[in-house]
Amino acid sequence: MNPNYLSLLRCPKSNHSLVLKDEVVVNGRIKEGSLVDPLSGTRYPIVNFIPRFVPLENYASGFGFQWNKHFRTQYDDTSSYNTSKYRFEKETKWSNNLTGQFVLEAGSGSGRFTTEALKTGAIVVSFDYSNAVEANYKSNGYHENLVLVQASIFEIPFEKARFDKAFCFGVLQHTPDPEGAFLNLPRYLKAGGKLASDVYVKNLTKWVLQPKYWVRPFTKGKDPEKLYSRIVKYVDIMWPLARLIRKIPKIGPSINWKLILPDYSRELPNASDVTLKEWTYLDAMDMLSPMYDLPQTLQTFREWHQKAGLVDIDVHYGFNGIEGRGTKV
Ligand SMILES: C[S@@+](CC[C@H](N)C(=O)[O-])C[C@H]1O[C@@H](n2cnc3c(N)ncnc32)[C@H](O)[C@@H]1O
Repeated sequence: MNPNYLSLLRCPKSNHSLVLKDEVVVNGRIKEGSLVDPLSGTRYPIVNFIPRFVPLENYASGFGFQWNKHFRTQYDDTSSYNTSKYRFEKETKWSNNLTGQFVLEAGSGSGRFTTEALKTGAIVVSFDYSNAVEANYKSNGYHENLVLVQASIFEIPFEKARFDKAFCFGVLQHTPDPEGAFLNLPRYLKAGGKLASDVYVKNLTKWVLQPKYWVRPFTKGKDPEKLYSRIVKYVDIMWPLARLIRKIPKIGPSINWKLILPDYSRELPNASDVTLKEWTYLDAMDMLSPMYDLPQTLQTFREWHQKAGLVDIDVHYGFNGIEGRGTKV
């Protein structure tokens, strides 16, 4: 943790500022110590350079496992494709120069979008509920402008009305209360601050025709290590067939997705077989392991933006299902 940004932190329960105690500083970063609410006495540990506001293990532990296992898989410099950069730019529509601005990221996973946000020159304040924060720290922890904590979107441990921008990609449907999670985000924006987020799309056809929803009752929340090794076996056995199916014009990759063999051959044309298989392992885990997978309709997502009092609302089908943008008044 970069000590320069301690003043941004708040006790997620009382909203009080926190005082640093018993710190161990290594190369100018706080490696260990406690953040204490001086009024209530509540202590939050700093472990491995990261302040922890939630239990280290929780309902998102499967995500922690997958993002630590695949901590670089979806980074653009690993895949050699600009998929994260492209999605960050298209989904936020923000300037690529945000120098001096404060940007909040909710649910960072391995941190591929943290990297993109840092490239804008912004001070990026990022959190995730799982120990995926360790994976993010491995890639982005060196950066002067990063503040990274393990925390929940329902109890965000930062000053309210502080941020110029906030984004939340691939997260809302994986919480127990997607609407509550969404409605909490604008509270951290300044007047004029901008929010960009997305959510899986719900419609009957998708539901009925998505075998992942038939399989999930048997896999969600299961021991991540065991589930992952079963997924690897399944993908390895099915891979020769997946390669053939992919060749079916137009619909090949979609058939593979239905077989729970996430197929990125369209998004990563000419990628090596090894790369495509890595993405398949990762995304099959992402489909089957999460405790919650609660897609929403376009209308519902738009209503959340209205309920939050946002203006300039733009909600439409896009990355990951439905994407939305809005501005705080
Ligand atoms: C599908 S991943 C998306 C990660 C990243 N945004 C990306 O797109 O690469 C969903 C993430 O949401 C996080 N998450 C789930 N519930 C959360 C909560 N209550 N607060 C913060 N993050 C949460 C998970 O730990 C996981 O890393």
